[in-house]
Amino acid sequence: MFFKRKNINSEYQDKVLSSESIVQVESDTQKTANSSESVQGSNPIERKLREAEAKNREIDEARRQLEQELATKHYYHQRLLETMDLALLSSLEKGRAKKDLHDAVVQLMSEDQTHALSAEGRKRIIKQIEDEVFGLGPLEPLLCDTSVSDILVNGPKSVYVERRGKLERTPYTFLDDRHLRNIIDRIVSRVGRRIDESSPMVDARLEDGSRVNAIIPPLALDGPSLSIRRFAVDKLTMDNLLNFNSISEPMARFVEAAVQGELNILISGGTGSGKTTTLNIFSGFIPKEDRIVTIEDSAELQLQQPHVVRLETRPANLEGKGEITQRDLVKNSLRMRPDRIVLGEVRGSEAVDMLAAMNTGHDGSLATIHANTPRDALSRVENMFSMAGWNIPTKNLRAQIASAIHLVVQMERQEDGKRRMVSVTEINGMEGDVITMSEIFKFQRQGIDEDGNVVGFYTATGVIPQCYDALSKRGLTLPHEIFNETHH
Ligand SMILES: Nc1ncnc2c1ncn2[C@@H]1O[C@H](COP(=O)(O)OP(=O)(O)OP(=O)(O)O)[C@@H](O)[C@H]1O
Ligand SMILES: [Mg+2]
Repeated sequence: MFFKRKNINSEYQDKVLSSESIVQVESDTQKTANSSESVQGSNPIERKLREAEAKNREIDEARRQLEQELATKHYYHQRLLETMDLALLSSLEKGRAKKDLHDAVVQLMSEDQTHALSAEGRKRIIKQIEDEVFGLGPLEPLLCDTSVSDILVNGPKSVYVERRGKLERTPYTFLDDRHLRNIIDRIVSRVGRRIDESSPMVDARLEDGSRVNAIIPPLALDGPSLSIRRFAVDKLTMDNLLNFNSISEPMARFVEAAVQGELNILISGGTGSGKTTTLNIFSGFIPKEDRIVTIEDSAELQLQQPHVVRLETRPANLEGKGEITQRDLVKNSLRMRPDRIVLGEVRGSEAVDMLAAMNTGHDGSLATIHANTPRDALSRVENMFSMAGWNIPTKNLRAQIASAIHLVVQMERQEDGKRRMVSVTEINGMEGDVITMSEIFKFQRQGIDEDGNVVGFYTATGVIPQCYDALSKRGLTLPHEIFNETHH
C-alpha cells in the first residue's frame, strides 16, 4: 500500500490528504496504471518536443524582427516628441487626433530617412506609434485578439498569453523596464491610482472592464510585471460548457434546479479554473422576479435579470482613507432587501456576515472560493472565521457552516488546459464535530492520452441528494435516473 502511495501523483495525494477512503485511492491508482497514461513509447513525446522547439524558434525569429521595429519605432517616436506636443492630441476628438498623428509621422518619415523602410514596414511602424500614443503600446495587438484570455508580462522581454486554456509565449517585447513602466503608469493613472516604490502593487481595470494587476521592483525581482485578465465580451453559457465537455448534461440539470430552488452554493476552484464564469452562468438561473445584489472587488458578472444592484469594493485612496471592503458591502446589502446575494469571491471576514445571512433566511446565495477540493473549501471558510477574530468552539462553527452551505461545486483547470466541473458535493450535516458531505456527481479521471488530453468521464455517484425532496416540493422534480451511476 505505501509503495503504491509513493508513486501516485499529487492529485491522488490530495485525495489521501483530504480524506476518505484509502481503498478508493488504490483503485484509482490501478486504473491509472492500466490506462494509457503511462509511457506509450517515447515517439509522441519526442514529436511534441520537436514541435515545441520549432515553435520556439519561430517565436524567436518573430521577436528579433519585432525588436528591430521597436527600435525604429522608438527612434521616430522620440523625434516626434521633439517636434510635437503629443499631450495636445488628447484634447482632440479621437478620429481627428489619430489623423493628425498619422500625418505627422508620415511627414517625419519622408523628411528623415535614417531608417530605410519598405511600404509595409512603414505602415507597421506608424501603427505601432499610434498604439504607443493612444493605447497600451506593444500590448495593443494582443488586446485586439479576442482569442486571448490572459496577457502576462514578466518584465519587458517576456510576454505570455493564454489562449483556449493554454499558455503561449509571444514575440512581443517592450524596449526596456522604463517603457513597460510607462504603460503600467498609464493604466493605473487612468483609474486614479499610482504605482511607485512606496506602493509597488496595484489593481486596476482597463476601459473595457479587463482586470489588471501590476507589481514592480523591488517586489518583482525581474522587472515590472503585469497580469491582465481579459474581460470576455461574449460570456460563456451553459451550452458552451456542455459543448466544451466542461460539465455533463445531468450535472447541468441538477445545478440549474439547485439555483432555482434557492440552495446556497459555493463554487470552489483554483486560479483561473472558471469560478467566475460558472458563477455568472449560475446567476443566470435565478428567476427574474428576484432582487439580486452582487458584490465584487472588480465587477465581472454580467447578469441579465432586470432587478440587479451591482456593488463594487473601493480601495483606500492615496492617503490610505476611504476603503470599502467586501464585508462592508455584505453588511450593507442586508439592508437592501435582497432575495439573493451573489458574492464574487469570499476570501476574508465577509465570510462571517455572508454565512450569517445564509443562516437567517437569505437562501439562494452564491459565492466563489479559492480552494482545491470541496473539503478544502469548507476549511477555508472555517479559517476565515478565525481570522476575523471569531472564537467559538470548532464544533459550533462547523455546525454553522454545515447549515449555511448546501452545495459545493468544484472547478478545476486540468493539465490539458480544459476547465471541468470535477465535483458536485452536497453538505449533509454533522457527525460528531466533522462536517459530512456526499458527492453527487464527479469527473472520473482515467489518465492522459498521448496528445496530453485528460481522459475520463462524468458520472453520478448513485447518491440521491438530500435536497431532492425540497426541490421537488418547489416543483423542481428531477428524474431519478440522472443520479444513477452511469457514464455521461
Ligand atoms: N469551461 C470553460 N472552458 C473554457 N474556458 C473557460 C471555461 N471556464 C472559464 N473559461 C475561461 O477561462 C478564463 C478564466 O475563467 P474565470 O475568470 O471564470 O476563472 P476564475 O477561476 O474566476 O479565475 P480567478 O481565479 O483569476 O478569479 C476566462 O478567460 C474564461 O473565459
Ligand atoms: Mg474569478
